[in-house]
Amino acid sequence: MHHFDYRDGELFCEDVPVRVIAEEVGTPFYLYSHATLSHHFRVFDGAFAEIPHLTCFAVKACSNLAVLHLFGSLGGGADIVSGGELFRALKAGIPAERIVYSGVGKTEAEMKYAVKSGILSFNVESEEELLTLDRVAGECGGRAPVSLRVNPDVDPRTHAYISTGLAKNKFGISTGPALELYRRAAELANIEIAGVSCHIGSQLTEIEPFVEALGKLRIFIESLAADGIAVRYLDIGGGLGIRYGDEEPPPPAEYAAAVAAGLEGLDCTLILEPGRVLTGNAGILVTRVLYTKDGPEKKFIIVDAGMNDLARPSLYDAFHAIDPVSGKDRPRVKADVVGPICETGDFLARDQMVPESAGGDLLAVMSAGAYGFSMSSNYNSRPRAAEVMVEKDGFKVIRRRETFADLIRGEAVP
Ligand code: LLP
Repeated sequence: MHHFDYRDGELFCEDVPVRVIAEEVGTPFYLYSHATLSHHFRVFDGAFAEIPHLTCFAVKACSNLAVLHLFGSLGGGADIVSGGELFRALKAGIPAERIVYSGVGKTEAEMKYAVKSGILSFNVESEEELLTLDRVAGECGGRAPVSLRVNPDVDPRTHAYISTGLAKNKFGISTGPALELYRRAAELANIEIAGVSCHIGSQLTEIEPFVEALGKLRIFIESLAADGIAVRYLDIGGGLGIRYGDEEPPPPAEYAAAVAAGLEGLDCTLILEPGRVLTGNAGILVTRVLYTKDGPEKKFIIVDAGMNDLARPSLYDAFHAIDPVSGKDRPRVKADVVGPICETGDFLARDQMVPESAGGDLLAVMSAGAYGFSMSSNYNSRPRAAEVMVEKDGFKVIRRRETFADLIRGEAVP
């Protein structure tokens, strides 16, 4: 469910015509719907109402302060993977005690910052990381709460680049060594065992891999208990997929019911780290057609957004529907929608049925609210796009378009 709909053939975001924003802000820009973001958070979080839980939004999916602030105000926490994300989450007003820190490569400086901030849990992914954290926490005069990230060796049946819970992936620790490491952690002076964590992958469209992972985690937690190690939290990560095209991911209620069944009898607070499911369909990328050209084999629609603005098609061969901003029922043609970047891999759509377009037309790249702006770059020295949020009949620029001066900020000629 989202609030991007047509009225008399014109695309609206809530009560604002997208074209009006494009005229004022210029293109390309990311556009988020406040009502959709709130609705997605409430539906997801509400699905777990019966279980003690905390929904920690995966900041990497969409890191704008306005988005983080909104989820924080609805009771959400944050799942962070860097010092920069911690900085953002705190700036957005998310209390440190609602922040969990994931990732295989935390630096000592990042650990220090997080220990001093008093976060809820470090999701630790290796023995060396654990020992470093113990030392750093000691140096800061504090104790670091830890949940080891267990790698349950489950196939999430998603794109290889975003599978994280297989034995061959760099993430987490297999159950055998993890058990050993918990025993060790229990003896470290500056480590406090908080929980167990896990994240098996992203854009999962089936429930079974989650259930399989949960079953393994349950057995794991029971063996910890048999060793006298009690955990307060079970963090099952994120990963619930969304509909980009014809996928049919399970709705949050179905996911929550499966999780509740898997947890039955365990005395833990559940932590969830959803990213994509909260923001993916709450945002679009709006771009203007510059030129069209008919190649000998293909039709190209050249737009002012490129792979630096939205990397997903280039990186994962991801599908994003492309819809017209004006003229809902315009005929469609099979074409490649490409950006201005000097790479053949620079496309937003390939051999896709897209609105027939001419220079000046506006196009909406749908479902771009997750891993869209947050993965954008300045490649080809392109200033990053603006981000805009609509709430009812008003809109606000929540990140201004970068300028040329922004491009060279911090550079120097020796
Ligand atoms: N927790 C951890 C530890 C993660 O690594 C991730 C995502 C999440 C939570 C959130 O997963 P989600 O609920 O959004 O599926 N750039 C890729 C996705 C990378 C996901 C990385 N980790 C894409 O555009 O598809």
